[in-house]
Amino acid sequence: MATLKIGHRGAKGHVAENTLESIKKAMLLKVDMIEIDVHLCKTGELVVIHDEELGNTTSGNGVVSDKSLAQIKSFRTREGYQIPTLSEVLELIQDKVILNIELKGEGTAEPVLKCLQKFPESKILISSFSFNELMSLRSLNPEIPVAVLTENDLSMAFLQARHLKAFSIHPYYKMVTRDFIADCHRNDIKVYVWTVNKPEKIKKLKSLDVDGIFSDFPDRL
Ligand code: G3P
Ligand code: CA
Repeated sequence: MATLKIGHRGAKGHVAENTLESIKKAMLLKVDMIEIDVHLCKTGELVVIHDEELGNTTSGNGVVSDKSLAQIKSFRTREGYQIPTLSEVLELIQDKVILNIELKGEGTAEPVLKCLQKFPESKILISSFSFNELMSLRSLNPEIPVAVLTENDLSMAFLQARHLKAFSIHPYYKMVTRDFIADCHRNDIKVYVWTVNKPEKIKKLKSLDVDGIFSDFPDRL
């Protein structure tokens, strides 16, 4: 099977991360899947941004959870783009590409599921580093595809994935081995690695038989 081409935070290497413009760019680059990060803001909407701290990537200050949607919408990224809501992203991509929603922060599982009510589950993959958040999600929806993220513990991720009946494990790319990938495949679990931008590393990971690669430059995949 061909390795899945996954745009990281849209197409972060080309256009400001987690913006509608970056997502449009990823779609132009014909990705199979687009990854975004979501946080809850004070008024209960889901907004698409990586850092809880607004000052890191936008004209705002303070943290996302302390701001209303109107405040979040008044901020701009350094390139002048707005922070989108999850609903705006869903409207943009419809079912043209698979969307990987990474849950950032506690309490995101239930609102994300509500937002996805009219969206086909076959076009969604929900991931998190938080096992608690993935467990909440699973208790609310036994079917929706989920993925376990890990940056340092493959064995734990494997146990959690089995427990959750996860679709995939998303490890930091430097951790994976051929044996780990083969173990996952024997258990019907896909392995999508992040975040890989250098062509020689992309080639090496493909030779290990990973199922998908997240890249800021998905055109390099
Ligand atoms: O989902 C893969 C990757 O995005 C996880 O790390 O910090 O870029 O959200 P991070
Ligand atoms: Ca992410």
